[in-house]
Amino acid sequence: MENRNTFIAPSLLASNFLELGKEVEMLNRSEADWLHLDVMDGRFVPNISFGLPVISQLRKATTKTFDVHLMIEEPEKYAEDFKKAGADLLTVHYEACTHLHRNIQQIKSLGMKAGVALNPHTPVHLLENIINDIDLVLIMSVNPGFGGQHFIQRSLDKIRQTREMINHYKAHALIEVDGGITLDNAASILDAGANVLVAGSSVFASKDPEATISALRKA
Ligand code: DX5
Ligand code: ZN
Repeated sequence: MENRNTFIAPSLLASNFLELGKEVEMLNRSEADWLHLDVMDGRFVPNISFGLPVISQLRKATTKTFDVHLMIEEPEKYAEDFKKAGADLLTVHYEACTHLHRNIQQIKSLGMKAGVALNPHTPVHLLENIINDIDLVLIMSVNPGFGGQHFIQRSLDKIRQTREMINHYKAHALIEVDGGITLDNAASILDAGANVLVAGSSVFASKDPEATISALRKA
């Protein structure tokens, strides 16, 4: 389908950390719109990834938008540090935030775009009272914590529901989808109403990551 407002956000979690500089050079050459950076604390999710020092080093190597996905508890403690490290968009998990409205205001007051992520079990309607305040809804299409998992089909309904909610409230938030996205399912995800596709293993494990990014953009 043509004329969709589509962005591709490769997830560095699946990249070769020994060659991170080269991976970013490849992404700079590619049609990737954003770099998706997965931060895990070993508490909110059962895995630990990378954090502030890695992101501030990456910031020196690219001008692409940094889409930071915080899979951490108490994200309010670190929002300012992620801004300083170079985050353009900061996404927190609904399930990790008791005072979500306050967290969103904090992120925006620091000059970043604000996103809210929903785990697979979390219903979309819980965002009704905040949808006009946020820049992005991130629908997790796998359980967060690991790359390389299979797309949960039920996520397609959640994407449609999110699109309906955004239309209903005349909100401006983008819909990002994260987990298990491949060249085979990208078109159905975009047709359901998504704008931003995160892709980790399908990009970095492919023979030609640059070509895969271009193909995802045309899905
Ligand atoms: C999972 C992360 C994802 C992950 C996606 O917790 O949020 O961004 O990197 O990886 P793939 O595309 O391999 O499912
Ligand atoms: Zn992610």
